[in-house]
Amino acid sequence: MEKWIGIVGGGQLGRMLANAAHELGFKVAILEAAPGSPAGLVADREIIGRVTEEAGIHELANMSDHMTFEIESADAHTLRELTRAGFDINPSAETLEIIKDKFRQKEFLRAHDIPVADFALIESVDDAKRQAEIFGYPFLLKARFGAYDGRGNRVIRREEDIAAAFAELSSSPLYAERFVPFMKELSVVVVRGKKGEEKNYPVVETIHENNICHMVIAPAEIDGAIRTRAEEIAGRVIAHLKGVGVFAVEMFMTEDGDVVVNEIAPRVHNSGHHSIEGCETSQFENHIRAISGMPLGSTALKAPVAVMVNILGDRTGMAEPRGIEEAESLSGVHVHIYGKVETRPERKMGHITALGDTHSETIARATEARKRISI
Ligand SMILES: Nc1ncnc2c1ncn2[C@@H]1O[C@H](COP(=O)(O)OP(=O)(O)O)[C@@H](O)[C@H]1O
Ligand SMILES: [Mg+2]
Repeated sequence: MEKWIGIVGGGQLGRMLANAAHELGFKVAILEAAPGSPAGLVADREIIGRVTEEAGIHELANMSDHMTFEIESADAHTLRELTRAGFDINPSAETLEIIKDKFRQKEFLRAHDIPVADFALIESVDDAKRQAEIFGYPFLLKARFGAYDGRGNRVIRREEDIAAAFAELSSSPLYAERFVPFMKELSVVVVRGKKGEEKNYPVVETIHENNICHMVIAPAEIDGAIRTRAEEIAGRVIAHLKGVGVFAVEMFMTEDGDVVVNEIAPRVHNSGHHSIEGCETSQFENHIRAISGMPLGSTALKAPVAVMVNILGDRTGMAEPRGIEEAESLSGVHVHIYGKVETRPERKMGHITALGDTHSETIARATEARKRISI
């Protein structure tokens, strides 16, 4: 009998989840506001509707054996009611409710003694000015809701930046956060199955430019004590969250060798894309395995090093991917294009994974592959 996976959201994460679900024999339905989304293009059924509204989520639930989401803006209230009504939805809607509000998420982490940067709710420009006296410059203003890929963050370097940030981020309430002068950014992707079993992917380093992820290096080049600390903290974070599936914990490694949590994603994550070619079982396959009650696969790396580079748009217009063959002519290089019709500056259009034996050589090859591609 056919079994259906329902995914709230039609972006590239949904697309890669759908591909993994197909390989395990599932049919896939997705919910997205417009037809032809990255996930819609590969799904068996596209439901057109907003991820923030009840109607489409109900329709998706009614045809799904197991349901999940690929975006934090998914309507947590509706997902919670459907869970109460007996639908199988993971990770839990309660988890989504905590995480989708970045301020509440930080309070939750602090309440569980997880190390985080100081933060404070602010309601006005004057509030922010007062907070700046406590935090000093630079500090960050962050949107509580709907932020992703750096779009909800502003680094405030002087008092004059505050009003501009308020104007630009005005669609969401804000909070302030102390700037962390980090040495590296790290991420741990963890998967939990229905029997409670947990596995984590090797700790990776993520490199952001302009607050958006450009490169992921697996495994991170860090000493054993930091690796253990990052894994331990990720484990503690996940232990407080309900539901099964993949979670990612983004962290800062500080100058004094400590680890501070930046944010949690209750879903597959950009810092796990290299796992498609680089690990025994990809994060996408393990997520589908988890939510459908199958045993989890190994998260071990298959090559000594895997490097992922995002293909970000650099102009506004119709996407015209070029140079894929030239990039893939480099050994161990795999190119993924998400099928987005329009490109925009810093929009995630695809990614490259390079596998290799050493960090420096694999980073160089991934960088060269990226240069060969234009969108
Ligand atoms: N408190 C901070 N101190 C220094 N850099 C930060 C801080 N918060 C965020 N950043 C930088 O901005 C990036 C994006 O911020 P994040 O809060 O993770 O938002 P997003 O939801 O866009 O990923 C981080 O990966 C990091 O590079
Ligand atoms: Mg982030």
